[in-house]
Amino acid sequence: MRRAIYPGSFDPVTNGHLDIIGRGCKLFDEIVIAVVVNPDKRPLFSVEERREILSEVMTGIDAGDCLLSVDSFEGLLMEYAMRKDAGAVVRGIRAISDYEYELQMALMNRRLEPRIETVFMMSAEDYSYVSSRLVKEVFHLGGSIRGLVPETVERRMREKLGRG
Ligand code: PNS
Repeated sequence: MRRAIYPGSFDPVTNGHLDIIGRGCKLFDEIVIAVVVNPDKRPLFSVEERREILSEVMTGIDAGDCLLSVDSFEGLLMEYAMRKDAGAVVRGIRAISDYEYELQMALMNRRLEPRIETVFMMSAEDYSYVSSRLVKEVFHLGGSIRGLVPETVERRMREKLGRG
């Protein structure tokens, strides 16, 4: 049983994240999508809302035989991954600029827990510029985010920001 964790802020989940999950499904029997609880950040969506959105949109992923679930965690990712009995962590890489930070994290995580591998997956070119941060900025400034996030995310963002 190959179980992987796909950790992230997912504030909000983008089509780029869903693309990575779909790709990860080709490698793993089970992927736990894990929302990090970070008390230092002021997110747009609460952890509960993000979990709810992820559970909703993951039904649209072509997962094949891969089992998908949604969870959240606080503290060290490596401790969480060990608790979950996972063998790997999946991270998406969009551009070379992501690589530096991701490499740093992967090596630190390896030092903390050598039994867990980090697997980098390349996102589709179509989403190579899509990030949760830019999606929020464009939306806040009145720009269109259609096609970059699942429809439910767009709708919930409109509701949250009173643009129902
Ligand atoms: O979607 P993000 O914000 O890029 O995800 C970052 C995440 C959640 C993978 C990273 O912040 C993380 O692993 N946080 C948990 C705390 C931890 O283990 N920190 C040490 C990382 S080397």
